[in-house]
Amino acid sequence: MSAAAIVEERLAALGTRFTEAFAAAPNEQALRAEHAKLLGKKGELTAVLALMRDVPAEARPRIGALVNTFKEEVERAFEGRLAALGKEKLQAELAGRPHDISLPGRLSFGRGHPHPVLAVKDELLAIFGDLGFRSVPGPEIELEENNFTKLAFPPDHPATDMQDSFWFGPGVLLRTHTSNVQVREMSRAASEAAATGAPLRLAVVSAGAVYRRDDDVTHSPMFHQIEGFLVDEHVSLAELRGVLSAFAERLYGPGTPVRFRPSYFPFVEPGAEVDVGCVFCSVAAGTRAACRVCKGTGWLEIAGCGMVHPDVFRHTGIDPDRYTGFAFGMGIERIAMLRYGIPNIRLLFENDPRFLAQF
Ligand code: DAH
Repeated sequence: MSAAAIVEERLAALGTRFTEAFAAAPNEQALRAEHAKLLGKKGELTAVLALMRDVPAEARPRIGALVNTFKEEVERAFEGRLAALGKEKLQAELAGRPHDISLPGRLSFGRGHPHPVLAVKDELLAIFGDLGFRSVPGPEIELEENNFTKLAFPPDHPATDMQDSFWFGPGVLLRTHTSNVQVREMSRAASEAAATGAPLRLAVVSAGAVYRRDDDVTHSPMFHQIEGFLVDEHVSLAELRGVLSAFAERLYGPGTPVRFRPSYFPFVEPGAEVDVGCVFCSVAAGTRAACRVCKGTGWLEIAGCGMVHPDVFRHTGIDPDRYTGFAFGMGIERIAMLRYGIPNIRLLFENDPRFLAQF
């Protein structure tokens, strides 16, 4: 039998069985398996195609056309069934139970919370807010005039030294304390009072970042302070004492004692350092001598304060013969470190989540 006759016979033997086989395939995988039986490496049709090289040249166009037509029919039937299976699958999905979009997701993100420094800052502002102090912002980049000169720092005061401050150039620096807000607010209030003829009255707090060339376990080049001041007629040291006592009781509990130790700040006279009774030890329990936080003294220093110096009033346009006032300033990190027993200020700025998660 000629090779051409063999090819014809084999094609006839394959017949149209594949059409039923494709139609019977229940899914794509089964369909592809049926397809491979014909056209895979060891497929029946592949074997027939291999015989083509033995077909003589004169018979080749006719037999070739036959084979091609057969192959095309196979592919058409395959593609047709493949598309039908895809449609069936889609129909089944659409008709089936819908996805439950109310199921909770598998990813979870921890909930954040305020950084301890900001939490303490907000608490301090809230306490002074309740005591009648209005909170105002202040700039971190400041003129030497507002940071030092108008606060009556003598030109050769060590704080103004290159070693202690970050200078941008002559006359401009990163503020070294929040006391700059005193100058700004007092100047503003003075011109307002002059313009309206109304009496001057200020009860202001301001909290924010300050900068110094300091770096050890209790000092950081950037830290935060809160400043407060009150200006009116007849303000005395008694009001200062009353406000700071009320503040200490709100922060550390009723009965927390407060004491003033005389101290020097150029912009107040008299000036004092403010101590509160150590909240970590008690004389009654006899543990004071061993207290590491207050070093056995029973007192913790938390602020500087004093009566506004008449020169500051003169520099900001306020009449020192008519008005008096008090001012105070404290470090926010120090309050936070005392409260949470944090031994090293750097922990507050490294922002290690294992540390921050503890608050
Ligand atoms: N500005 C001072 C400092 O940074 C703190 C201070 C002391 C502020 C006495 C005051 C004050 O308002 O009256 O060291």
